[in-house]
Amino acid sequence: MRIFIHSLILFCCTLLLSNVQAEPIKIKFSHVVAETTPKGIGANLFKKLVEERLAGKVVVEIYPNSQLYGDEKEMEALLLGDVQILAPSLAKFGKYTDKIQLFDLPFLFDDLAAVDRFQASEKGLELLHAVEKKGYYGLAFWHNGMKQFSANKPLRVPADAKGLKFRIQQSKVLEAQFKALGASPEKLAFAEVYNALATGIVDGAENPWANIYSKKFHEVQKYFSETNHGVLDYMVVTNTAFWKKLPDDVRTELEKILAEVTIEVNKIAFEQEMTDRQKVIDSGKTQVIQLTPEELAQWRTAMLPVWKQFEDAIGKDLIDAALAANKKP
Ligand code: LMR
Repeated sequence: MRIFIHSLILFCCTLLLSNVQAEPIKIKFSHVVAETTPKGIGANLFKKLVEERLAGKVVVEIYPNSQLYGDEKEMEALLLGDVQILAPSLAKFGKYTDKIQLFDLPFLFDDLAAVDRFQASEKGLELLHAVEKKGYYGLAFWHNGMKQFSANKPLRVPADAKGLKFRIQQSKVLEAQFKALGASPEKLAFAEVYNALATGIVDGAENPWANIYSKKFHEVQKYFSETNHGVLDYMVVTNTAFWKKLPDDVRTELEKILAEVTIEVNKIAFEQEMTDRQKVIDSGKTQVIQLTPEELAQWRTAMLPVWKQFEDAIGKDLIDAALAANKKP
């Protein structure tokens, strides 16, 4: 009888354990932008491919538009294990490592293709691992696009921005950039930008075309100046402990899928820079100002002191490597 009871207990435990093991791993992927942007499309594609190729093993839940967490809480939530993947803009990593502030330097990269070349370089890939010690594991860089200035008055030369209040992301470099223009930077979460522009809490902002169009910023800003003065890109990031603990086969497949999604996201980003810009123009709700080379040179000169200000913290080697990426191969 005792043997029978023992066997029964053992059988039940095994059954219970196998049920526990059969439970799929849940990945919550939270982000702050619309599903029609490169990041939004990338997150949804990641879910689709994971659920096709790791069916029964992994489920992915996507939370766009700051639905689950906004800018303020998402990095903390990742460390606490409340979400498993995020893709914050590179500007939002500046508080974890000085080096990544490189990406916010104004007029460092000529265009998105230069950013792409830099991110694929040895120095660029080093930055993907720059936050590992803080518990964040960088999985990929994703593009969005180059930023444009906007306001309710035409911004043709730096003097036009003087005295205006601009919304910025959490970034010391971006703060310095607007101060260099004699403007006031105001740090606000992305979810608050539309309202802040609509109600005049801030006068202007800087955004890439995909974010402008998807969040209708062009409906609450009379002018956009085509400055392409900086990049807004992302690091897809997970919790280091979570990632390392995944079964090897699952982690390998997830990394393979992410590599495929990254190619697709970056392709879409290049296309959307053009198409969303055109959609903003076609909306007729705002005016897109094309600057002359002389006007653009004035913006560059006004903001260049920011480089010197951050050179020691970022490292001259990184700045030089980024500049080298401007050369077309
Ligand atoms: C912003 O805050 O402007 C961006 O980082 C939002 C985003 O994720 O593109």
